[in-house]
Amino acid sequence: MISEALNYSKKICCIGAGYVGAPTMAVIADMCPTILVKVVDISIDKITRWNSKSSDDFPVYEPGLSEIILRCRGKNLFFSNDIDEAITTSEIIFVAVNTPTKTYGEGKGMAADLTYIEQCARRIAQKSKSNKIIVEKSTIPVRTAQTLNNILKTNESKCKFQVLSNPEFLAEGTAVEDLSKSDRVLIGGEDSKDGKKAVKELVDIYKNWIPEEKIITTNLWSSELSKLVANAFLAQRVSSINSISALCEETGADVNEVARAIGSDSRIGNKFLNSSVGFGGSCFQKDILNLVYICQSYGLNEVAEYWNNVIKINDYQKNRFSSKIREKLFNNLNDKDISIFGWAFKKNTNDSRESASIYVSSNLLLEGAKIRVYDPQVSSNKILNDLKYLFESKNINDDQISALLKKVKISGSIEQNAKNSNALVFLTEWDEFKVINFSKLYKTMVKPSFIFDGRKILDIDKLEKIGFDCYEIGKK
Ligand code: NAD
Ligand code: UGA
Repeated sequence: MISEALNYSKKICCIGAGYVGAPTMAVIADMCPTILVKVVDISIDKITRWNSKSSDDFPVYEPGLSEIILRCRGKNLFFSNDIDEAITTSEIIFVAVNTPTKTYGEGKGMAADLTYIEQCARRIAQKSKSNKIIVEKSTIPVRTAQTLNNILKTNESKCKFQVLSNPEFLAEGTAVEDLSKSDRVLIGGEDSKDGKKAVKELVDIYKNWIPEEKIITTNLWSSELSKLVANAFLAQRVSSINSISALCEETGADVNEVARAIGSDSRIGNKFLNSSVGFGGSCFQKDILNLVYICQSYGLNEVAEYWNNVIKINDYQKNRFSSKIREKLFNNLNDKDISIFGWAFKKNTNDSRESASIYVSSNLLLEGAKIRVYDPQVSSNKILNDLKYLFESKNINDDQISALLKKVKISGSIEQNAKNSNALVFLTEWDEFKVINFSKLYKTMVKPSFIFDGRKILDIDKLEKIGFDCYEIGKK
C-alpha cells in the first residue's frame, strides 16, 4: 500500500492510537504531506475501527478529526497493528500509550503505571536496526527519559537513540483546533550535540505550521515536569472556583459573578473559572496524583499535601452535588427515578474516563435511586462498565453490583430519559441540552419536578416559571 515510500521526506510513527496518538498524527500528516506517518497499536479492534470506511466507527469522537483522517488516510497516514514494521522503518518514533494510575504494588492509587511505556521501549530496543529519535508524547513522571535510555541501551545493533520529551497539551473536544493552533509546543532534549540535533529535527516538523516563537525548547526534565505542572495548575483553578461555589451558596454571592469579577483582572485571567460538578477526564486526577507521589518520594510532604487538596476539593464537589439531590428530594431517594443528562466528562467527546457523572450516579444508586442516562456520544456498554468498575473498586460484591446495575437504564432520547422521572440532573454541558423544550418535559414528569444543573448551562429563572424546583451550583 505504501509503494511510493521512498519518496517521502521523512518516516515517522506513533505507538498508541488513542485520544492523543491518532489526532496528533493526523494533524502532522495533514500539515506535512511529504512525511509518512504510521499510527500503530496493539488493539486490533481500535485499528480496525480507524481503518473503517465510515467515520461513525472511529474509536474517538473529536470535532474535525474524521475529515482530516478521510483526507490523509492511505496517502501519508496509515493505521496498522504491525508495530515492529513501523519501528524498523521510522526515523522518529512517538510514544503515546496510556500511563494510568497504578492499581497495584508500590505507589498504588497514585504513581503512574509505566508498564506500557516500558513495553514500547523494550520493543524499540529489540527491533531497531538504525539510529532513531524517540519522542515521549505520553504524560510521564519527571526523569522517565532516563529509564527509557537505560532500556534502549540493550539494543544489540548498537543503534544510537535520542530521547526527547514533547508533552501533549491538547484538550479533548477541541483536539484538532488545539493541535492546529497550539499556544505552544514544548520540546525537551539532552544538552549535547546529538541532543540538540534531535531537538532541531522535531522543531523542523512543527515549524511546518506552528510559528517558531511558539516552540519552546528546554532540558528533558523541565519538559517532563512542565506537563504535570500545567495540568495541576489548570485543575487547581477549577477546584479553587468550585470551593468558592460552596461559599456562594451559603452567602448569597453568585459564583458566576465572582468568576467574572476576578477573571477580569488580567493577572488572574478569565479561563478555567467555570464552576461545575467537578473536573473529570483521564488526566487531571491521574497527573496530580502522580505529582503528589513524586513530591512524597522526595520527602516534600507539604508540597504533596498542597496539590492533594486540589483532588480533595474535587471529590468534595462531586459528593456535595449528589448530597444536594438527596436533600432536596426530601432526604429520600429510595426507588425514585432520576434522569442523568450527560455521561462524557465534558462536551464534544465520547470519553467518560473519571467523569463526574460516574461518581454522582454511583452515589445516587447507593442511596436506592433508579437512574436513566442519556448521552449523545457515550455507548451503553461504557456507561454500565464505568459504574461496574467504580463499584468493584469500592469492594462491593458481585451480587450487589448486578442488583445496582439493574437499576440503570440507558435512554435513546431526551424525552424518554425525562418521562415519569422525579428529577433531571445535568452533568455534561452538551449544546443540545441548552435548547431542550422544558415545558414539554415538565408535563411528563412526577411532581414536584426537580432540576439540578451541574454545569450552569440552563436558564434557571425560566425553569422556575415553568414550575421546576431548581438547584444551580454556586447560587443560593
Ligand atoms: P488511550 O488509552 O486513548 O490510548 C492509548 C493507546 O495505547 C491504546 O489504544 C492502547 O491500546 C495503546 N497501547 C498501550 N500499550 C501499547 C503497546 N505496548 N504497544 C502499542 N500500543 C499500546 O490514551 P490517551 O488518552 O491517548 O493518552 C495517552 C497518553 O497521553 C497518556 O499518557 C495521557 O496522560 C497523555 N495525554 C492525554 C490527553 C488526553 O486528552 N487524552 C492529553 C494530553 C496527554
Ligand atoms: C486537560 C488539559 O486542558 C489539556 O491541556 C491536557 O493536555 C489534558 O488535560 C491532558 O493532559 O489530558 P481535558 O482533560 O481533555 O484536557 O479537558 P479540559 O477542558 O481541561 O477539562 C477537564 C475537566 O475540567 C472537564 O471535566 C471539564 O468539564 C472541567 N472544567 C474545565 C471545569 O469544570 N471548569 C472549567 O472552567 C474548565
